[in-house]
Amino acid sequence: MELKKLLLFVSCLYFVFGASIRQVHSDFGLNAIELIEKYGYPVEVHQIHTDDGYILETHRIPHGKNNQNNALRIPVLLVPGVVCGSADWVNMGATNSLGFILADHGYDVWLANYRGTTWSRKHETLHADVNKKEFFDYSFQEIGAYDLPANINHILNATHQENLIYIAHSQGTASFFAMAASKPEYNNKIRIMIAFAPIAYTTHMEQMIFNWLSSQENLDLFNEFVDKYELYEIMPYSPSLSTIAQTFCNDDSILQRFCAEIFYFISGRSIYFNMTMIPVIASNTPAGSSAKTFSHFAQLSIANSFQKYDYGEVINEEEYGQSTPPKYDLRQVTSPVALYYSDNDLLSAVTDVDRLSSELSNVVVKKMVNGYNHLDYLWATNSVQMLYNDVLEQIKNYS
Ligand SMILES: *[C@@H]1O[C@H](CO)[C@@H](O)[C@H](O)[C@H]1NC(C)=O
Ligand SMILES: *[C@@H]1O[C@H](CO)[C@@H](O)[C@H](O)[C@H]1NC(C)=O
Repeated sequence: MELKKLLLFVSCLYFVFGASIRQVHSDFGLNAIELIEKYGYPVEVHQIHTDDGYILETHRIPHGKNNQNNALRIPVLLVPGVVCGSADWVNMGATNSLGFILADHGYDVWLANYRGTTWSRKHETLHADVNKKEFFDYSFQEIGAYDLPANINHILNATHQENLIYIAHSQGTASFFAMAASKPEYNNKIRIMIAFAPIAYTTHMEQMIFNWLSSQENLDLFNEFVDKYELYEIMPYSPSLSTIAQTFCNDDSILQRFCAEIFYFISGRSIYFNMTMIPVIASNTPAGSSAKTFSHFAQLSIANSFQKYDYGEVINEEEYGQSTPPKYDLRQVTSPVALYYSDNDLLSAVTDVDRLSSELSNVVVKKMVNGYNHLDYLWATNSVQMLYNDVLEQIKNYS
């Protein structure tokens, strides 16, 4: 909070002393719903209750701009990565955003927002700001156990369909594998699962902060720090952050390159990243997550295993009826899976994807997207040619 205030103050000074903003993108400051409306698409807002009381907001683009309303369409559920939300599939304009492209190709597009992110900070009995410890007590495990089934059931019921196409980025793939491995009945509800930058095993991640966290000693420090300062919620949506991005990362700012370096630090360098779009991305992202999420991913790396959260022997006994966390059995994932991965991704490592691929039951596509960093799957200038055209071909076979 203090750091944010300081940055805000510095950005005010920057405003006053000479910086003029001539070149901020006209999509700056728009949220998911506003972006969808601005580009001329229909939008619906759905409130979905999970079995453990969270109230999730899912955004729907029921059809494309020039399609008729009444045709039968196959639903596609888009599930983002950690600290991302519905906006991240529609913030690259009409021709480069996968959300819009799918709608124009005749699909019924549903954009999920996880528990704890901007639109889904709601619960039947808990308050996200008052009961932070309980509210943010989740990782991809609970998302897979509750949020995804709730979304899938809601969509199938609303559309009178038996199955849907699932497309996810990063954590959206980990939570899918967790769901399909522990609730195998959901495999039948999936026509095909498309995974961008797949995450299950995290052992070979190269990102610096994650590497630091992936030692038991540092992870203990992190967890103590989180408890001491009650930092259960991590990187929530912040209007001041988007103001800072508008000020420092626009096309006229000498600091724009530095802003891009932050993205590269997180995800790997990219020659496909359009820096002009940084203020638009920062208008909605980061959208929030839980400290436990990062702790769980670090545990996976330390244990060299894809498994449930490790609470320590005593609580593991209570939670799982065994002293160690149960491993997810990836052979139970029988839905057709398409894996898109890269050798330039600091978070989704080739070795880890190969191991995942060898354990899944039904991998139908495994493609290297050359040169992509972790975020290019959403925001690269050439994502249509490099990725989305191929995805459209693959899902056509299951439509
Ligand atoms: C299923 O959809 C109908 C409307 O089509 C609605 O009345 C009902 O509450 C829904 N059921 C669930 C479990 O969402
Ligand atoms: C970057 O984004 C801007 C604004 O949308 C666009 O005008 C420009 O063509 C993009 N650059 C590339 C290389 O795609």
